[in-house]
Amino acid sequence: MPKTIIVSNRLPVKISNADDEYILSPSEGGLATGLGSIYKQDNNVWIGWPGIEITEQHDKDRVTDQLKELSLVPVFLDQEEINQYYEGFSNEVLWPVFHYYASTYATYKQSNWDYYKTVNEKFKDIILSIAEPGDIIWIHDYQLLLLPGLVRNELPDVSIGFFLHIPFPSHEMFRLIPWRSELLEGMLGADLIGFHTFDDVRHFLGATTRILPVTTSSNIITMDERSIVVESFPMGIDEKKYASLPLQDDVKEQIELIRNNFKDNKLILSIDRLDYSKGILQRLQAFELMLQLCPECIEKIALYMIVVPSRDTVPQYAHLRDEIDKKVGNINSIYRTMDWTPIHYYYRSFPIEMLSALYYTADVCLVTPMRDGMNLVSKEYVASRINNDGVLILSEMAGSSKELIDAIIVNPNNTGEVCRAILEAVNMPLEEQQKRMTSMRKLVAKFNISHWVKIFMDRLKEVKLMQRSMQ
Ligand code: UDP
Ligand code: G6P
Repeated sequence: MPKTIIVSNRLPVKISNADDEYILSPSEGGLATGLGSIYKQDNNVWIGWPGIEITEQHDKDRVTDQLKELSLVPVFLDQEEINQYYEGFSNEVLWPVFHYYASTYATYKQSNWDYYKTVNEKFKDIILSIAEPGDIIWIHDYQLLLLPGLVRNELPDVSIGFFLHIPFPSHEMFRLIPWRSELLEGMLGADLIGFHTFDDVRHFLGATTRILPVTTSSNIITMDERSIVVESFPMGIDEKKYASLPLQDDVKEQIELIRNNFKDNKLILSIDRLDYSKGILQRLQAFELMLQLCPECIEKIALYMIVVPSRDTVPQYAHLRDEIDKKVGNINSIYRTMDWTPIHYYYRSFPIEMLSALYYTADVCLVTPMRDGMNLVSKEYVASRINNDGVLILSEMAGSSKELIDAIIVNPNNTGEVCRAILEAVNMPLEEQQKRMTSMRKLVAKFNISHWVKIFMDRLKEVKLMQRSMQ
């Protein structure tokens, strides 16, 4: 029976090494958490990097066996590949440029690009070693932009889908990358290219027609007599899982603990990976402004802020972590009282049961990225509000703001606006909360992760049929 081969840089589980044991734990990040809950259907396999360097062959074999039980196939990266392909090209060129931080953070090094090509080739070889006739190959995200083209060269007729989980920037940004043509040609090896939003589609079509000798008609690109369809597919979450977690006994216990801790305080929740694109410092500024302008808020409102460690070997991320530490320290030292702390800050990841208890308990969820492909945290908060109360404050720069229009939508650069939104949220009448939350919950329930996978896969089959009918 044909299978779907999912391919991404990071597997949905990561490996850590303790006392000569390899321990598996869930990976963070929207791609891994979103697809991770459903990839095991049918006889799918997922190819990707397990998150650490493993040097000895017998250890690689051990890990390969462990992962095989979960239908996962590892791609092992050595330290130089991690430095140059993952940290260097993926996270110091593509991530900043695609999130509009080109002038602040991007560095263009030829050797990073050479490693990017080599590692994409490495992924291709592993795909070729397991692909069988009829299989569908679904490649994900910015670390593997060359991979669709590399696979296409070897398997001209295979079905290839590609999905980008981060924004695709306007041509003015994208053109800054010295290797822009090669990147686009790589992506165009796919039959169907998906983005979270229509703006991303528009930007991609614009960049492609300006940079490559292709023709486009509506959302179809023709290159070398092959037609490639480009469309938006806003990613959903496993809504049922988030709606049922608060009913579990272990989650109920956590909910009680949080309630006892915060008593009559209004609880504002913020959850992100450590990333400058998430607007964490700007959010802290808005919270500080609120404390300055609203003395009545002292001892009444608390911010529970989780920052999940991410890419902290990349200098900009390490620097950001230090800045957040300082800012939180400053605010807490100025405003703390004998029995109240304004910001409860955690720099670590939490199990899903604790996240669920927090989503269920928080009066407000504050999601204010400067730029975000989708942002699943905003959808997870909505899905967890099974009593239809609570308020979501959401940046207009997050892909999810196109769908969650009943959130309080803010510009994250406007500190005053975010500050006012917090005050509006904590004072919002229950009826108004319920009206907004009910409509957002319906949307998150309907356009869930299974729906997302289905419409992408159905469309890929249609594209293949269309191509054949044109031959
Ligand atoms: N997350 C997690 N552990 C944590 C905190 C968050 O696994 O301790 C998850 C969170 O539930 C969400 C994902 O990380 O599913 C973050 O995805 P999002 O789309 O919001 O942002 P990304 O990290 O992909 O940029
Ligand atoms: C975002 C990206 C993913 C990535 C995740 C975590 O969600 O779209 O591709 O896996 O961040 O980042 P990391 O660098 O730890 O894989």
